[in-house]
Amino acid sequence: IPVDSFDLVIFGGTGDLARRKILPGLFRRYASGQMPDEGRIIGAARSDMTCDEFRTMVKEAVEEFDPKSAKDTENLEKFLERVFYVAVDAMGDGGWKELGDLLRPDMIRAFYFSVAPSLFGTIAERLKTFDLADDDARIVVEKPFGKDLETARALNKSLAEHFHEGQIYRIDHYLGKETVQNLMAVRFGNMLFEPLWNSQYVDHIQITVAETVGVGGRGSYYDTSGAMRDMVQNHLMQLLCLIAMEPPAKFDPDAVRDEKLKVIRALDPVEPHHIVRGQYSASEKSASYREDVENPRSFTESFVAMRCEISNWRWAGTPFYMRTGKRLKARTSEIAVVFKDAPHSIFGAEAGVHRNVLSIRLQPNEGMTLGVTIKEPGPGGMRLVDVPLDMTFAEALGPDAEEVPDAYERLIMDVIRGNQTLFMRGDEVEAAWAWTDPIINGWTNRNDVPKPYDTGSAGPDDALMLMHRDGRRWREIK
Ligand code: BG6
Repeated sequence: IPVDSFDLVIFGGTGDLARRKILPGLFRRYASGQMPDEGRIIGAARSDMTCDEFRTMVKEAVEEFDPKSAKDTENLEKFLERVFYVAVDAMGDGGWKELGDLLRPDMIRAFYFSVAPSLFGTIAERLKTFDLADDDARIVVEKPFGKDLETARALNKSLAEHFHEGQIYRIDHYLGKETVQNLMAVRFGNMLFEPLWNSQYVDHIQITVAETVGVGGRGSYYDTSGAMRDMVQNHLMQLLCLIAMEPPAKFDPDAVRDEKLKVIRALDPVEPHHIVRGQYSASEKSASYREDVENPRSFTESFVAMRCEISNWRWAGTPFYMRTGKRLKARTSEIAVVFKDAPHSIFGAEAGVHRNVLSIRLQPNEGMTLGVTIKEPGPGGMRLVDVPLDMTFAEALGPDAEEVPDAYERLIMDVIRGNQTLFMRGDEVEAAWAWTDPIINGWTNRNDVPKPYDTGSAGPDDALMLMHRDGRRWREIK
């Protein structure tokens, strides 16, 4: 369904995120018919560039980052006609009037701040000073949303001086992933799971977001951030919220976000012995973390594993284990709900212990698997085996199903539609920092040194111990 016509201004329109994700994503939405012909995209950045030069840059970005879609040259040419550029000085007055001249009245206006957070406040203020944004305009901000509670509060405050909460779209691209939304469909669209979704039936939950990449060219940012700020405070906590929250009364932005906020507020502080940090070592083919960030004395973590508890009626006593890291064995993200053992085995001890596990794979091969126990076929008596009831979305929905849009595409269309359900509210972000800050401060105060781990492994051995101590084990990263 096409969205209404819009003017979307991308501050930082020549930057890495715009080239890699935002512009190719918008092109795919155009080619699929969702972005209307009247939709316009306006790149805004410091460089002096003509519209034609910017269009060439956009074309090259689509060709580089989505070569498959770029083959549709007819649509690509039409898309480029909808792309414009103005040079704007975010800190000064240059270019703002020209930007205003380009914007059309009576159109949805959205401003994407794909720039350093230090510029958020200034750009918000300029938009108002130059009268470019009324009470219907939307602004989109990227992570990192602050580096702790204090900076996040200051950012919220500076945006709130010019925009009300209903206009602010804080992106966490994990919320735009197809399977993440499916998680809500599975939980609240089926009768089967929800009655079992509590500490009485669930033994524990594991959330794994494993990456094979290192910190690449982002060393200077990453080394001041680390896995806790870069991944846990936002992406993993959002997954945790969606898994653990109470059913919202409606699928509407505030109803959903109210429930997520309650989960964050119910999280217990994490004891130091319930958290493990790691840092990848060099391998034959790749450099160590410290070499990658060019800081031989870095104590920043590229891996973190932890055991959390949610103190509320539904989850008291059920551990949530989370881990994420770079340069691990495989790129895989999974949430596994591990159910308790059956209370009594009528098949005797030799039948062994069998558990149902619901595994929700976010990437790659998005899908769900429910492990169920059945009788091993054959005449050998009552021997039990675990088999997967497997549902890979690509297979289940067939070859004609619409290609799954990338997280950014979906989220930008939601901005135009004015739907904030999949965006973080200011109080949620602050609550998440309020929970992570003491953990990070504890490391700093104790001069904590991350444990080294091999590239291509599942992280440091201490992370395995975190679960072994509880008589449990991590699922394989594969
Ligand atoms: C980003 C982090 O938010 O998410 C990166 O800053 C990380 O460090 C990325 O690599 C992972 O996203 P995805 O979609 O590839 O799982």
